[in-house]
Amino acid sequence: MATDARALQFAYWVPNVSGGLVISRIPQRTHWDLAYNQALARIAEQAGFSYGLSQIRFTAGYGAEYQHEPVAFSQALLAATTRLKLIAAILPGPWTPAVVAKQLATIDQISGGRIAINIVSGWFRSEFHAIGEPWLEHDERYRRSEEFIRALKGIWTQDGFSFRGDFYRFHDYGLRPGPLQQPHPEIFQGGSSRAARDMAARVSDWYLTNGNTPEGVRVQIEDIRRKSTHRETPVKIGINAFIIARDTEAEAQAVLADILDQADPAAVEAFGREVRQAGLGSPEGEGNWADSSFEDLVQYNDGFRTGLIGTPQHIAERILAFKAVGVDLILAGFLHAQEEVAYFGREVLPRIRALEAAAAHKG
Ligand SMILES: Cc1cc2nc3c(=O)[nH]c(=O)nc-3n(C[C@H](O)[C@H](O)[C@H](O)COP(=O)(O)O)c2cc1C
Repeated sequence: MATDARALQFAYWVPNVSGGLVISRIPQRTHWDLAYNQALARIAEQAGFSYGLSQIRFTAGYGAEYQHEPVAFSQALLAATTRLKLIAAILPGPWTPAVVAKQLATIDQISGGRIAINIVSGWFRSEFHAIGEPWLEHDERYRRSEEFIRALKGIWTQDGFSFRGDFYRFHDYGLRPGPLQQPHPEIFQGGSSRAARDMAARVSDWYLTNGNTPEGVRVQIEDIRRKSTHRETPVKIGINAFIIARDTEAEAQAVLADILDQADPAAVEAFGREVRQAGLGSPEGEGNWADSSFEDLVQYNDGFRTGLIGTPQHIAERILAFKAVGVDLILAGFLHAQEEVAYFGREVLPRIRALEAAAAHKG
């Protein structure tokens, strides 16, 4: 077993949305209902995953025809597990910090401290229109998200919390009970633009980014490190990956080819247009999907780019290359979630731990 204090951690995408994680007609055994997800969560904690990450979607689009709400869904998965932490996606705008602080404090109390949140800043303009939420420009969305996080932390850690922001106000507010986890449940965030990196450097515990190469993520990590030298605890880094682990390289590559061959071109292109327009207010043009190809866009969060496709040994070695540039967590998506989470735990994770132990021994 690893003796490494910085052992890599693993999260899996909770399929609380229908259609899986690829915009392809390839048959998938992943299901979005509760029974499937409860079994998956138990398999994941058994396999060595620390976290399950859910998504927030209010409307259908690009394959995601049905969507369960992530806070309620996470709670059901917490009831079905004993160690796994659930990261619920929260979208500032429809949610307010007052509601999230209260709701999550209760869930934290009743789950024995196993809830976390992923603050997402929005990419789907038609979704905002559908639910009557104003669509702010890119950097304004991040300004609101940052205030949201500051307010949330204030409510969770201070008695008699007051705050005067542009988006949120609090007057001598005391939350009882507060969360069980101290100082507060972990705060993740998703997004890769300059505004996302600045926000992570200032207020988040975790930065989650789209799939990328070790070099691509290294540049982001260095930027965040430069901007957060004042912090006592460094921002932790997670990267998305669509993992295709098979006994042979040829089998894994054949699955990838099949996913791409059966991609739905109209849906992939429409998704590409939507996400590109979402980044328009990001002046430096470095956000998620800024340079994604058609193939990249078949996986919602550029997960093929991470290159975790091949044999268990190949994947384990490549994951260590991500650790070497400062990655702390792999956020894993799979085609057939239950079977592949179990396979990952059985075949890939022990190899990663062996490599980590060898590196710790050497270093
Ligand atoms: C790992 C990860 C998970 C995300 N989950 C969601 C989600 O559940 N719902 C959502 O609307 N956006 C989600 N997003 C999108 C981001 O919040 C953000 O809107 C998008 O990445 C564009 O921001 P950027 O320009 O900073 O990259 C996610 C992004 C990442 C990287």
